[in-house]
Amino acid sequence: MKELTGKEVAASIYENIEIESKRLYEQFQHRPTLAVILVGSDPASMAYVSSKKKKALELGFGHKDISLPADIDENTLLSHIDDLNRDSEVDGILVQLPLPAHLDESKVINSIAAGKDVDGLHPTNMGHLVREEETFISCTPHGILKMLDYYEIETKGKHVVVIGRSAIVGKPIAALLMQKGRDATVTVCHSRTADLPSFTRSADILIVAIGRANFVTSDMVKDGAVVIDVGINRVDDASRKRGYRLTGDVDFDSVASKCTAITPVPRGVGPMTIAMLMYNTLSAAKLHMEGRK
Ligand SMILES: NC(=O)c1ccc[n+]([C@@H]2O[C@H](COP(=O)([O-])OP(=O)(O)OC[C@H]3O[C@@H](n4cnc5c(N)ncnc54)[C@H](OP(=O)(O)O)[C@@H]3O)[C@@H](O)[C@H]2O)c1
Repeated sequence: MKELTGKEVAASIYENIEIESKRLYEQFQHRPTLAVILVGSDPASMAYVSSKKKKALELGFGHKDISLPADIDENTLLSHIDDLNRDSEVDGILVQLPLPAHLDESKVINSIAAGKDVDGLHPTNMGHLVREEETFISCTPHGILKMLDYYEIETKGKHVVVIGRSAIVGKPIAALLMQKGRDATVTVCHSRTADLPSFTRSADILIVAIGRANFVTSDMVKDGAVVIDVGINRVDDASRKRGYRLTGDVDFDSVASKCTAITPVPRGVGPMTIAMLMYNTLSAAKLHMEGRK
């Protein structure tokens, strides 16, 4: 069984990003710049936002932090996004999800200029993705593709089963893997799927993005499968200083011995998401400097 660590793949991506962003600076005296909006103070969201900032600064990117109170009204949030849309220094805008319930997530995402939507969630970018056109691919699915490529995992003719149909993971990874060139046969399962194990057991590649700790057990996995665990769940753990540990949607200990390859949590898909956010921010900066977006 091979452990697919995102850290290793991410390192190779950062190497290229550093070379490319140096080149961009030499040509245009511009550093790729990411603006991140955080609404409220959810601890997991705060941790994600701070890792993104740390990585952007490490890479020498420009970075803008916009922290807004949880009870902010929608129009004020939209006007912050409008300012960032007009700010020529800013290449990429990310609104950390989930948003507090009183805010309309779709309305907020749709208000980001498509050319700055480095999270790849704007309908224009998702539309391009489905049409197999060049676009910002949302970061986690993009990261999964890079991992599959790096570890030379063939998808052509394989049966990929995705559990989860969210706009941020399940739907885009399904659309990407069925594209020409990837050529997988994809089945998407969700909470209303009847007899889920009958699908998962036929998967050559099983991608799990549901948000339930240790949900997938060894009896649900075919011998020799590749398992990509997207889930990040906080499980109480009194032995840890912070009082919890992170675990995936897959029961790693029982499933790993059946697989040819599996991603651990943490250190698996997680690091790839941030790497692809930086990759998309650099791509956005290049497009802006070249006057293409
Ligand atoms: N590694 C990373 O960088 C990264 C990035 C994004 C998300 N995540 C993690 O990935 C997980 C999923 O995130 P998400 O945003 O996609 O979640 P989400 O929007 O809550 O979607 C969860 C999906 O799982 C399905 N589901 C829930 N319970 C199920 C069950 N018992 N059987 C089958 N399907 C079930 C839901 O089905 P319905 O549609 O029927 O409700 C839904 O489609 C979370 O743990 C999240 O933290 C990690």
